[in-house]
Amino acid sequence: MIEFKDVIKEYPNGFRAVDNLNLTVRDGEICVLIGPSGCGKTTALRMVNRLIDVTRGEILINGQPNDEFEPEVLRRQIGYAIQQIGLLPHMTIRDNVAIVPRLLDWDEERVRQRVDLLLDMVGIDPGIQGDKYPRQLSGGQQQRVGVARALGADPPIMLMDEPFGAVDPITRAILQEEFLQIQQEVGKTIIFVTHDIDEAIYMGDRIALLRAGRLVQYDTPDDLLALPRDDFVREFVGTDRSLKRLHLISVRDSMMNNVPCCDDDATLQEVTACLDRHHSDSAFVVDAGNGKLLGWVERPALVEYGSLSEAMHHAPAASIAVPEDATAREALSVLLSHSFDLTPVIDAEGVLTGGVSIQRLQDLVEEPGIHAAMQRERGR
Ligand SMILES: Nc1ncnc2c1ncn2[C@@H]1O[C@H](COP(=O)(O)OP(=O)(O)OP(=O)(O)O)[C@@H](O)[C@H]1O
Ligand SMILES: [Mg+2]
Repeated sequence: MIEFKDVIKEYPNGFRAVDNLNLTVRDGEICVLIGPSGCGKTTALRMVNRLIDVTRGEILINGQPNDEFEPEVLRRQIGYAIQQIGLLPHMTIRDNVAIVPRLLDWDEERVRQRVDLLLDMVGIDPGIQGDKYPRQLSGGQQQRVGVARALGADPPIMLMDEPFGAVDPITRAILQEEFLQIQQEVGKTIIFVTHDIDEAIYMGDRIALLRAGRLVQYDTPDDLLALPRDDFVREFVGTDRSLKRLHLISVRDSMMNNVPCCDDDATLQEVTACLDRHHSDSAFVVDAGNGKLLGWVERPALVEYGSLSEAMHHAPAASIAVPEDATAREALSVLLSHSFDLTPVIDAEGVLTGGVSIQRLQDLVEEPGIHAAMQRERGR
């Protein structure tokens, strides 16, 4: 756990880069520090490992003030990945990753094993890339090595200052996803600096929004989007915050199981009864044998053609349905592109398992804290 208690950083010219910061980062969580350029993110981060001294207040690491540790000791226990990657150009990739373990006097065999494991973990082949120099790697590869190096001695705490800042958006998205997968395994306590709100929402368990050295709001991504405290937050998270929230909600959590649906061998009477029962003018059609989604049928066509087989629209399930692990945002896209009022949901085999309604999506974006409530529900 990392705790900032009334932390102030004041420069000799009287400028307060960090102004009375109170913030608790829980074990195993990613806390994202975000805010406009110059708001004090890097300063706050560097005070944790004492690269910058606190003017007033204190920072506790697992309950112990960080000024009770020798700075060197502290820094070896806290991984640090910086904005410009910071790999040492004259050292090979292996040597870069080995820096902290060697500082800790690990024997060379243990260092070698650790370096290979870390490079593997971040998707760099130690056999192929390990003996190269940083400039021989792409930007994305260098960022991966930067992350591996920060994880070097398996520190419980990681400080990451725009660690994916130096790459294109596509590589960045890949690195974010990879890193979250690694974090699921290693469960570090992380302070992660970014000025990209989408990255913050994607990466953060909690987001701390700073402005001019002050903490404006500290909340889960969902609560930040749903309940922005003031106009500054509202503006910062963007006007499309409702849509952003849908990225955080899975189809599994927003679908209903009972949707209008009939077998492809159903009679006209059976289909009509199904539509009536659901007060609906359309129903999904599934294979009577295996339940796989085949398409849909609408009442007017049914009346016109008089049989399901002639009236139904055939469509590949993948083009009209979403899988259960998709996000509510994807369900909305499908809904809008087909002008359905219900997006069908399928399992891995293509079997219809339910649907997401437009009404449900609207409720979700209006209901504050729904995501947090769902998480709590699941944790129970
Ligand atoms: N030695 C110094 N004396 C006075 N002010 C300083 C000093 N060092 C940094 N600052 C100021 O402290 C403020 C916070 O800087 P910091 O690097 O923490 O910002 P940041 O939020 O990380 O910004 P960015 O997003 O651009 O990286 C800035 O306004 C900076 O100009
Ligand atoms: Mg910075």
